[in-house]
Amino acid sequence: MRDLDFSNNLDAFWMPFTANRQFKNAPRLLVSAKGMHYTSHDGRQILDGTAGLWCVNAGHCHPKIVEAIRAQAGELDYAPPFQMAHPKAFELSSKLVTMTPGDLNHVFFGNSGSEAVETALKIAIAYHRAKGDAGRVRLIGRERGYHGVGFGGIAVGGMVANRRQFGTLMAGVDHLPHTYDPKRQAYSRGQPDEGAEFADALERLVGLHDSSTIAAVIVEPVAGSTGVLIPPKGYLERLRAICDKHGILLIFDEVITGFGRLGAAFAAEFFGVLPDLMCVAKGITSATVPMSAVFARDFIHDALIGATPEGGIELAHGYTYSSHPLAVAASLATLDVYREEGLFERARELSPYWEDAVHSLKGARHVIDLRNLGLVGAVEIDPRPGAPMKRTYDIFTGCYKAGVLVRQAGDIICLSPPLIIEKSQIDQIIETLRGVLESVD
Ligand SMILES: Cc1ncc(COP(=O)(O)O)c(C=O)c1O
Repeated sequence: MRDLDFSNNLDAFWMPFTANRQFKNAPRLLVSAKGMHYTSHDGRQILDGTAGLWCVNAGHCHPKIVEAIRAQAGELDYAPPFQMAHPKAFELSSKLVTMTPGDLNHVFFGNSGSEAVETALKIAIAYHRAKGDAGRVRLIGRERGYHGVGFGGIAVGGMVANRRQFGTLMAGVDHLPHTYDPKRQAYSRGQPDEGAEFADALERLVGLHDSSTIAAVIVEPVAGSTGVLIPPKGYLERLRAICDKHGILLIFDEVITGFGRLGAAFAAEFFGVLPDLMCVAKGITSATVPMSAVFARDFIHDALIGATPEGGIELAHGYTYSSHPLAVAASLATLDVYREEGLFERARELSPYWEDAVHSLKGARHVIDLRNLGLVGAVEIDPRPGAPMKRTYDIFTGCYKAGVLVRQAGDIICLSPPLIIEKSQIDQIIETLRGVLESVD
């Protein structure tokens, strides 16, 4: 047991997306990690069923990634990214765009998923303006969408708890309906058969606002943070077609789905639907150093670059830490690990086993739906009457006590393990959950 002194130091840290008082009454601290496991402050091994926060795709403290970060810190700590650069930023960009589908050939770096989203929304509006279409400023998100915590991201996002505290958000935003219809979709294995027509709501928004005012639609190909909503068969294809018909850009927020989560490099590849802009983060460095990126198709990049006379800055946007050397080094090493260890293929090969394991919880106490795709899973919990989220919180803490980290999203338990998981560890996650479901009221 580690000797941690909490006597007077719990108050200062204002924890994000956390019930601070509840947490500080019974803290859960992670002090080290290796492979599939965390070590908790009370010395227990915790199996990571969530890849941290959907992000540690290569497993914890991979020696190759650790070494790359160490070496980079001693070689070049920082280089300004405005009007200056460092060579590895170009190397990484070139490597990344060989992995992206279609002509998503240009990459703009940030540090978080939230920043990637703000960047993509800004590029979309700036693109239309560069084309002489300055009236296209509206942005369309989706109910239950999560696009981080910037004002743009919460405006296009669709999770009420993340919006209601923050005033009027951004003007000119509207939302598609979410795609979850438990009456027709419950217990679907993989993509639900029913629900492609939810995409047609975009035609109605075009009818309401006129396409000449709409810049872009942003969706997560698989909605993650809201509790894993899998797109119905044909839905993304239909959204793509309606965007094309009306000259609206399609943005995929692949902050969770990028880098192997579905068993392909990106959801765009998995579903065979090409977005115009694609946001990634998390798995780009396997979460070792903060980094995010937006990929843009040729026509967007070229229109923006061409719209400004040479010598002028073509996009007035960027971050002090865009392409930070430590993040770039971490990402280069992470991409090597993904390739050398075949982790995306591994995720694909494991996904039928994962699907069977998740769906083996059908009939378990409190379970009212199960969803899966790639190495993502969700267990929808019947809430206690009049007490939403309480039962699911008890399941989350029960699993933690039993040595497995799962994630609570409202009344849903989300699962998204590192892609290095073994079948026996999948069994451990599911059997721990089954036991906790049985024991929780
Ligand atoms: C789809 C999606 N977009 C954006 C974000 C925000 O990323 P960050 O927390 O790195 O800002 C997340 C985080 O979970 C996400 O899942």
